[in-house]
Amino acid sequence: MGKGFFINKTVGIVGIVLAAGAIATIIALSVVYSQEKSKNNENEVKPTGAVTTPVPTTEPSNEPWDQWRLPQTLSPQTYNVTLWPRLQPDATGLYIFRGLSSVVFRCVEKTNLILIHSNKLNMTLQPTLTALGSKPAPIIESIVMHTKTQYMAIHLKDELTAGESYELYTEFVGELADDLGGFYRSEYYENGVKKVVATTQMQATDARKAFPCFDEPAMKAVFHITLYHDPATVALSNGVLKQQYKVNITVDDTFVTRTTFAPTEVMSTYLLAFIVSDFGFIEQNIDKLQIRIFARQEAINAGQGEYALSVTGTILKFFEDYYNVPYPLPKSDQIALPDFNAGAMENWGLITYRETALLYDEEISSNGNKERIVTIIAHELAHQWFGNLVTIRWWNDLWLNEGFASYVEYLGADKAEPTWNIKDLIVLNDVHRVFAIDALASSHPLSSKEEEIQRPEQISEVFDTISYSKGASVLRMLSDFLTETVFTQGLQTYLDHFKFNNTVYTDLWEHLQRAVDSSTSTPPRSVQDIMDRWVLQMGFPVVTINTETGQITQEHFLLDPETKPDRPSEFNYEWFVPISWTKKEAAQPLYWLFDDNWVLANINVTGYYRVNYDNENWERLLNVLQTSRQSIPVINRAQIIDDAFNLAKAGIIETTLALRTTLFLASETEYMPWESALDNLDYFYLMFDRTEVYGPMQTYVGNKVEGLFDYFTRLTNWENLPPGHTDQYNQVNALRVACSTGLEACTTLVKTWFEQWMENPNVNPIKANLRSAVYCSAIAAGGEKEWNFAWEMFEKATVASEKDKLRAAMACATEPWLLNRYLKYTLDSNKIRKQDATSTIISIASNVVGQPLAWDFVRANWEYIFKQYGGGSFSFSNLINGITKRFSTEFELQQLIQFRDDNAHIGFGSGTLAIQQSIERTTANIKWVKKNQETVLEWFINPL
Ligand SMILES: *[C@@H]1O[C@H](CO)[C@@H](O)[C@H](O)[C@H]1NC(C)=O
Ligand SMILES: *[C@@H]1O[C@H](CO)[C@@H](O)[C@H](O)[C@H]1NC(C)=O
Ligand SMILES: *[C@@H]1O[C@H](CO)[C@@H](O)[C@H](O)[C@H]1NC(C)=O
Ligand SMILES: *[C@@H]1O[C@H](CO)[C@@H](O)[C@H](O)[C@H]1NC(C)=O
Ligand SMILES: *[C@@H]1O[C@H](CO)[C@@H](O)[C@H](O)[C@H]1NC(C)=O
Ligand SMILES: [Zn+2]
Repeated sequence: MGKGFFINKTVGIVGIVLAAGAIATIIALSVVYSQEKSKNNENEVKPTGAVTTPVPTTEPSNEPWDQWRLPQTLSPQTYNVTLWPRLQPDATGLYIFRGLSSVVFRCVEKTNLILIHSNKLNMTLQPTLTALGSKPAPIIESIVMHTKTQYMAIHLKDELTAGESYELYTEFVGELADDLGGFYRSEYYENGVKKVVATTQMQATDARKAFPCFDEPAMKAVFHITLYHDPATVALSNGVLKQQYKVNITVDDTFVTRTTFAPTEVMSTYLLAFIVSDFGFIEQNIDKLQIRIFARQEAINAGQGEYALSVTGTILKFFEDYYNVPYPLPKSDQIALPDFNAGAMENWGLITYRETALLYDEEISSNGNKERIVTIIAHELAHQWFGNLVTIRWWNDLWLNEGFASYVEYLGADKAEPTWNIKDLIVLNDVHRVFAIDALASSHPLSSKEEEIQRPEQISEVFDTISYSKGASVLRMLSDFLTETVFTQGLQTYLDHFKFNNTVYTDLWEHLQRAVDSSTSTPPRSVQDIMDRWVLQMGFPVVTINTETGQITQEHFLLDPETKPDRPSEFNYEWFVPISWTKKEAAQPLYWLFDDNWVLANINVTGYYRVNYDNENWERLLNVLQTSRQSIPVINRAQIIDDAFNLAKAGIIETTLALRTTLFLASETEYMPWESALDNLDYFYLMFDRTEVYGPMQTYVGNKVEGLFDYFTRLTNWENLPPGHTDQYNQVNALRVACSTGLEACTTLVKTWFEQWMENPNVNPIKANLRSAVYCSAIAAGGEKEWNFAWEMFEKATVASEKDKLRAAMACATEPWLLNRYLKYTLDSNKIRKQDATSTIISIASNVVGQPLAWDFVRANWEYIFKQYGGGSFSFSNLINGITKRFSTEFELQQLIQFRDDNAHIGFGSGTLAIQQSIERTTANIKWVKKNQETVLEWFINPL
């Protein structure tokens, strides 16, 4: 990268010319701020910043127990927690756990009230308070459980003394429910025997469901954990277990093992984990560090943990270097659970995963499964420092925690799989993905104010794509323009300075600034000034480069140009934009505004923005794509397509221009451009697959993919794997799209494979990578017989990723009664696990036949679905977005609004924002279809 510079307010007359080399970085703040925008400001002023459901301005009372945040009067120091989960139901059929807990806290400010979180726990003994100092403890006057705010309030006759320490002792019982939150149970069958696992998911606010605690991330303490369990089971927690910590005892006439773990480091409650199971494990020691992978014994015996074990050490070592801080704990356990809501959870020293995110079978799992495993492991290991050692003070800064891990997961995974070019994929998986959401007027800034994120469901709602993927994208941009050396240096001093402590995001900026100040890196403004604009205002700019006038301008990019941002911005929706660019090498490097010389900006999409050009430059780029596409980096071939389609959607360029960016695919074999095109054409399928456009579009796409299909046929004849990681992905694309557009060579191939399998169910002849595509295609072409076979194989499968492939493929059926029956299965956790219910409904909804069925189903069962999944984070807003994404008619919009109004009394929980976004998206779809249908039809008939 050449040296960049900054273009000040007024018009950015193209300084690019002066830069040395073909690639340069400048930072432009523009400029042309249209009339339109100033008009928008006349809009009523809404408060800035909020992510979520508004907090009513008047709380019911000012009493501390009616507030959602703990007072700062007490500060926990150590806990001593003993838990005894029962893996058999009691006489009434209930699964329970018993617990005793004492917490030592220091009184910071005198008070006669102890407020401590406790949710769904029944006290079995009057809590007792002991003073650890010289003065006696005040007498407990009364104890009140506040179920709404989830507190136990202990009112004292006299005040606690500031500076003194006290110990609060409680005994309690809770339900070990199958609700995937707090201390919960997961069930599975092994050799026909039902097994029960007791496990935990504390983040964000469910540690209080396991034992009374000061359940906020800044209330760090040391935890002494003890578990009682059947001697035939293994107990795990964050701390190290030594053989001598295990004792067999008899309690309540039951013979149990008492396992006590070494005390934890100073840590947050949300990172605790307790697990009792009869899982097996494999292990490896690197230096003095113990690394173990736990899973169902059957899975461990089948070697499914080996891949995870083989990459963990490499990734840990990488992060030790990257952070320049040794791994903070003496052990690293990772465990795969049959029931788990999120993908994985970074509990300190005991990371929990969905089975599909940790277990890999060489024969059965695809390379996509493998990639998911290595990136999620890298993500969770990254948190062991960033998040666990240094923790955000409050959930409003979640984006920093998750965005950071979502960025560096690519760096860690790249270390483990250096031949995969995995770092490139962040552009498709995160940047392009979040662009789609962040271009809506109902998007929200990365950062929210602390007081706007209060209630548990508001906290759930910040675990969204903006926090993860936009967080990752802007941190990647920051690392890129500061240079990785400066970025890591700031990061390292930040981690060192705040270890075992809590931060707000500006603390990181401060340390990065120090690194900048002691380097030769010269961003035009302070890190804070530049980043404020990316963090405090929602959305992102489209940068327009006019090669005729040499002007560079920026504008807030909105997918629907007629919408206005929901909130005003103190920065007027202007950004400091680091611009990297390349161009055709000209004889005279000083001038790029020449004739056939094209220019291309945002190299490798390291910047979080889209790029538009004047028409002539677009034409030149189209020409290069068709004649010498290699001169454009592969990531940018994907970018040109994605930018063009989205600019067209926003009405900035012609739809036909966007479609023309796909013409070169006839000779393209690389994955990224193909994937980008297929993602974007997917929208056309959603909008048009019930219209007359469908036929000509299928013909066009079919023509394009034929070359790719032939390429892979020549390459390996579908027998062997293509050599490259992304080539393997594109091989799947070739098969999937060729079959779905009806290419006979493809459908015959697939049909033959599936029939072979049905004839001999014990030998699956289908290559692991191709299974998803083959299953879906065969089930779509088949009927009840194929579906029932898939169901049988689903029930029999012992590898979770294989189950997932079949589960998704069964949604490809085309007979409505099969799909309706399948929808019903999602309400029966014996058929479809709770963790998989929403994603199954989403799969059915993405099938053109299934979509109306899924919508009817969700409407009919809203109350139940909401109660089951409404609190959960990602899956719920995904559900709402998933079932409505095809909506493009006035009638559907009315139904959606009706649905919102009819269910207002039940609510939408963590999907509240998603409902709003769906309405906005539907409105935009209606307009888009009206405006484009004719043109698109004509173009597909005659694509030039
Ligand atoms: C924790 O509690 C157990 C049982 O009540 C007790 O034996 C042990 O000494 C306590 N440990 C600490 C560190 O307080
Ligand atoms: C806790 O108490 C409530 C109300 O008495 C009861 O319904 C619930 O079953 C109890 N929970 C446990 C785990 O005993
Ligand atoms: C506890 O009992 C089990 C089963 O009887 C036995 O296998 C185990 O070695 C005992 N553990 C200890 C620490 O005594
Ligand atoms: C944690 O950070 C705060 C604020 O930066 C500081 O005042 C405090 O002393 C730190 N605590 C520890 C234990 O280092
Ligand atoms: C862009 O990405 C490609 C592929 O990862 C890489 O080889 C190239 O060096 C990158 N270009 C720049 C300017 O960083
Ligand atoms: Zn994370």
